[in-house]
Amino acid sequence: MTLALRINGADREIASDPETPLIHVLRDELKLKGAKLGCGLEQCGACAVLVDGEVTLSCATPAAVFAGREITTIEALGDTPEGARVQEAFVAASAAQCGYCTPGLVVAVTALLQRDPAPSREAAMAALTPHLCRCGSHPRVLRAVEIAAGQGQGQQ
Ligand code: FES
Ligand code: FES
Repeated sequence: MTLALRINGADREIASDPETPLIHVLRDELKLKGAKLGCGLEQCGACAVLVDGEVTLSCATPAAVFAGREITTIEALGDTPEGARVQEAFVAASAAQCGYCTPGLVVAVTALLQRDPAPSREAAMAALTPHLCRCGSHPRVLRAVEIAAGQGQGQQ
């Protein structure tokens, strides 16, 4: 029996074993390479995608668990007003260094702005906390949140 998943607005037939963690289906079978495999242990946030609009880690949960849900990867985030604004704000704030954590952070910030268009600093920090960044980019990501929310001009 094949697995059907709804990904970025399209129904996809999945050939991988349904027990395969979602990130491997996305990256290896569907060639959606935006979400990154970091720890593989739901500890770093690099693999985050949206599932029914909620930030969801994709590295350890079998793909079959996501049947019937709406999966959105970073490849489609720019199709939403918030996602497009967030990506522009990351560029404006130079909010990436090596970039490995960046897709997960963009997913997290987009979800934040979709549920709270004018987040407090505390809410922004809470949204970023599950996303580790070895390069120390969180201060710039916080500036990107302000820019995307229209709360600041992004000055250094
Ligand atoms: S790769 Fe999924 S949380 Fe680290
Ligand atoms: S920009 Fe390098 S890990 Fe975050």
